[in-house]
Parts: sequence; C-alpha cells; structure tokens
Amino acid sequence: MAHAVILGTRPEIIKLSPLIREFENRGEAYFILHTGQHYSYNMDRVFFEQLELPGARYHLDVGSGSHGEQTGKMLEGIEEVFERERVETAIVQGDTNTVLAGALAASKMHIPVAHVEAGLRSYDRRMPEEINRVVADHLSEYLFAPTNVSKGNLLKEGIEEDKIYVVGNTVVDALLQNLKIAEERADIQNLDIEEGAYILMTSHRAENVDVKERFEGILEGVRRLSKEAGLQVIYPIHPRSRKNLVAFGLKASGVTLVEPLDYLTFLLLESKAALVVTDSGGVQEEACILGVPCITVRDNTERPETVDVGANLLVGTDPNMIVEKGLLMLNRRGGWENPFGDGRSGKRIVDILERVST
Ligand code: UD1
Ligand code: UDP
Repeated sequence: MAHAVILGTRPEIIKLSPLIREFENRGEAYFILHTGQHYSYNMDRVFFEQLELPGARYHLDVGSGSHGEQTGKMLEGIEEVFERERVETAIVQGDTNTVLAGALAASKMHIPVAHVEAGLRSYDRRMPEEINRVVADHLSEYLFAPTNVSKGNLLKEGIEEDKIYVVGNTVVDALLQNLKIAEERADIQNLDIEEGAYILMTSHRAENVDVKERFEGILEGVRRLSKEAGLQVIYPIHPRSRKNLVAFGLKASGVTLVEPLDYLTFLLLESKAALVVTDSGGVQEEACILGVPCITVRDNTERPETVDVGANLLVGTDPNMIVEKGLLMLNRRGGWENPFGDGRSGKRIVDILERVST
C-alpha cells in the first residue's frame, strides 16, 4: 500500500513539498500523481527542480479548461490510477479543482482522503475554491486543519472532532526550509529594484481578474499607491491575469510586470518588500509569516488569522481604499505573531498518517 500525493498547481507543489520530503526521509511508500492543471514551466516544473522533488509517477496532462471539463478529465484519470495502485490514503492540499477531483475519485473508491489545509472558509460560495474545499472536507477521513479557527469551522459544519488534527500550515515548513537558500542563491538584482523600496503585488483570483472593473480597480489603486508612497510596484503576473489584461485592453501603467517567478526568487522578493498587495491565499500567509505588511484586494478571506494578528487588511478593489489602507499598512512592520505554526506541520501529518495506517 502506498500514499498517493495528488497535486496539480503551483501552491500545491510548494505546500506538499515538506510532506514529500518527509516521506522520502522515512522511506515511506508513496507516489506523486500530477493532474497537469498547471503545466507551463514557470508554474510547474521549476518548483520540482528548485525544491528537488522526485518526478510524478503518473501525469494526467489535463491542462486548462472549464471547471466541468477540467474536473471531469481529472476524475477519469485519477480513477484509472487508483484501479492500478493499492492506495493507502489519497492526500490532497488546499482548494483547487485538483483537490475536488482527487477527493471525489478516492472517496467513491473507498480510499480514505487526507485533506491538508482543511477547514478554511471564506463563506463565499461564488468562489470555486470555496466549493472545492467544502466538498473535500466533507469527503475526508483525516482533516489537517492549520489553526484552531479552521478546526472551529469544521466543527460548525458537523464534522466529527476525532477526524480533525490541528497541525499548523505546511507553508511555514516550506518557507523555513527555503528562505535561507533563497538568501544565498536567489538574485533579485536583475529585477532592477531597490531593497525595501518596492511593493510586491500578485493578483490572479478569478473573481478579480476575470472581471474587467475589478481588475482595473486594482491596477489603478496600486498605480496611485505607488505614486503617493514613492515606491515601485513589481507584479509577477499569473498567466490567467496576463491573458485577461490583454483581452480587456488594460494598461498596467506604473507597474513593472514580470513573468511568474520561481519560488526562491519570489520568497526573497517577498521578504524584502515594503508592502505586499495580493489576492493569493499563500501569499497572504507568507507575508504574515515574514513580518511584511499586506493588503488583500478581496472582500473576504479564508485566512482571517492574518487580519486578527494585524498583518493583513481586507481592502476590496476600490482604488481609494487600496491607497488609504496601503499607506496605513506601510507604517506597520512585523511584531505580530505567526498564527500558522512552527514549521513542523509536515512531520506531524506524516506521524499521524503512520499512526493511523493499517
Ligand atoms: C488555480 C486554482 C486557484 C489557485 C491557482 C494557483 C482552481 C479552480 N483554481 O487557478 O484556486 O489559486 O490555481 O495559482 O482550481 N495557465 C497557463 N499555464 C499554466 C496554467 C494555467 O497558461 O500552467 C492559464 C490558462 O490560460 C488557464 C488559466 O491560466 O486557462 C487558468 O488556469 P487554471 O488552472 O484553470 O486556474 P488558475 O487561475 O491557475
Ligand atoms: N509564488 C511563486 N512565484 C510567483 C508567485 C507566487 O513562487 O511568481 C508562490 C508563493 O510563494 C506561494 C504560492 O506561489 O507559496 C502561492 O500560489 P498562488 O498565489 O498561485 O496560489 P494560491 O495560494 O492563491 O492558491
């Protein structure tokens, strides 16, 4: 019997890397199943190389498509793999379509699902991610909640307490395992920015970049914030956002656009930023852990811990709010506690999986 580590997108590769490392170190039987949801070199392969991860035993090559098309292809492919392998647990991480397909395929085949980063809730069912995480949680046997807040969300939905384990978030493990390496190896000189004197922006969330007015509001807000604060803005732009920027005919004036960055370069850039502006889940967490102030260009967040400790503010997409709250957050720096754990989440998860394995 082997654990199946199911992944398909950039954040899943990063956040499952501590678990994969732990399996490797302990000589556990496991394999990687890659759905192929992300496939561009700089959204996929580069992370395997940089994090020194073994290649996937199965690659479904699903690629992009509508939700139904993408999820359907994944279901079919994952089922075939599960028919061939004797799977101990199907491990999924986060809230992508890969997670939904992995959890659904496994549970229909009576394979126990382990959900890493369980219990996050934005309470906004218009987000595909919210639907994916709710379904995955309710199909899971082992729910690895990062914090007591996420555990509380699960209990409110009637999930049995003995299935829930509060273990911290593996994003901390990955960050701690790689920040020093990033400081030694990554090079941000060629990005032509002045240390500590720039705003790092990422935006790729469908509800923002698929809606012209919202995307425009974010770009206008950061352009004005940059001017008022006298700070450059650098935006490693996700392929979804790049495509829509062109389709909507928007101009990102005053913003330096660069291609999606490798993990080490991104971490270093994040750690030295004056402010982070984002709609990413992982980036909200990382900014908080690194002590870098953040504003989140969304109306809600499934990471309320970052707001509660004072590291993050929800500002929506109104340019005036982005400027006002951005200037406010630029005056804050660190000093808050990291609510996401001590960087040993991967170890805890593997300990638990070993304990419960038959
Ligand atoms: C997905 C997740 C989102 C997560 C994000 C991480 C879902 C519903 N969404 O969003 O929760 O935050 O990954 O980055 O699962 N594309 C490429 N190359 C790639 C991948 C995508 O060019 O390697 C382009 C394609 O035009 C594609 C678009 O990006 O249509 C969107 O990709 P998709 O995987 O559908 O969703 P993401 O926006 O990446
Ligand atoms: N990231 C990266 N390069 C980039 C942007 C992000 O390596 O150009 C990393 C970042 O450090 C974080 C993860 O990707 O760990 C976040 O992924 P993303 O924002 O795509 O997804 P989300 O967390 O919103 O699901």
